[in-house]
Parts: sequence; C-alpha cells; structure tokens
Amino acid sequence: MAILPVRALPDPALRQKAKRVRAIDSSIQRLIEDMRETMHAVPGRVGLAAPQVGTLLRVIVIGLPEEEDIVLINPEIVRRSGERSVTEGCLSVPGYYGEIKRAESVTAKGRDPKGKEIRIKANELLAQALEHEIDHLNGVLYIDHLENQDKLYKIEDETTQF
Ligand code: NI
Repeated sequence: MAILPVRALPDPALRQKAKRVRAIDSSIQRLIEDMRETMHAVPGRVGLAAPQVGTLLRVIVIGLPEEEDIVLINPEIVRRSGERSVTEGCLSVPGYYGEIKRAESVTAKGRDPKGKEIRIKANELLAQALEHEIDHLNGVLYIDHLENQDKLYKIEDETTQF
C-alpha cells in the first residue's frame, strides 16, 4: 500500500470524465487499497475519488468516522430527493470551503471490490460524500455548485474534506 499524492487545482485530471472500470483486476485492487490509505492519512478526510490521485477511472472510497469504508466501482446516483444547504471542502481545492446545496437523500448503486452490485440509500454526511465523490468522476468540483463567490470561504479551522 502507498499514500498517493492528491492532485489539486488547476491539475487537468480533476476536470476530465473518468472511464468505467471494465475488469476489477489486481491493479484496481491496488488502487483501492492505496486510495483508502491516502484518505485515512489525514484526519478529517472522508472521501476520495480516483481522479484526485491522477487515475481517470470510476472508483470512489468513502470513510466516515466510526464506519467501515465504502468502496464503489462505477458508481451512479440513481435517485435524489430534497435539498439542503451544506458546507463542503475538498482535498483538491486546498484552503477553502464553500456553502452549497446538496440533496437531502440519495440512492447510489455501483459494484463493490468483489464485483457484487450494491445499492446504498443515504442521507446526511454519507449522501453528501456520495454526491461529492461521484461528481469528481465527471470532472465536477463543489465550487461549480456555488451560487456565487461570496459563498466560498478560507479555511480557518478543521473542515471535513471530501
Ligand atoms: Ni473532493
């Protein structure tokens, strides 16, 4: 396992659409393990998408406090409902956090590292993390959801980073 460098803006990898994973082989398993280690290397990081470590494949990991890590391959949001304001930061947009709108709850589907199809119904922090990480696979960052630049703030204390 290895801790990978996390790409930050203006790295072009963050703005590209990632490709679907065709076969969950040993290189994908290694990527997943490295992404989990990279995510947990700094407290407050709760998610990571493969493009953030420079791999343009549709793989995300989510590690909420006190919960088992969630790994999703080729994930998609299949249902969104409600709307709420959240504060959000991203490892790839260092030094800032913003106030944006996210869904109240989402349903996501994808495959686990064994290739089994899974569906997750989520709200609160997990719903936010799923939307944030799946956005990364489409080259979208939370700053794209800002209503205006006044909703972007400099980080002064510890903020949850996705
Ligand atoms: Ni992010």
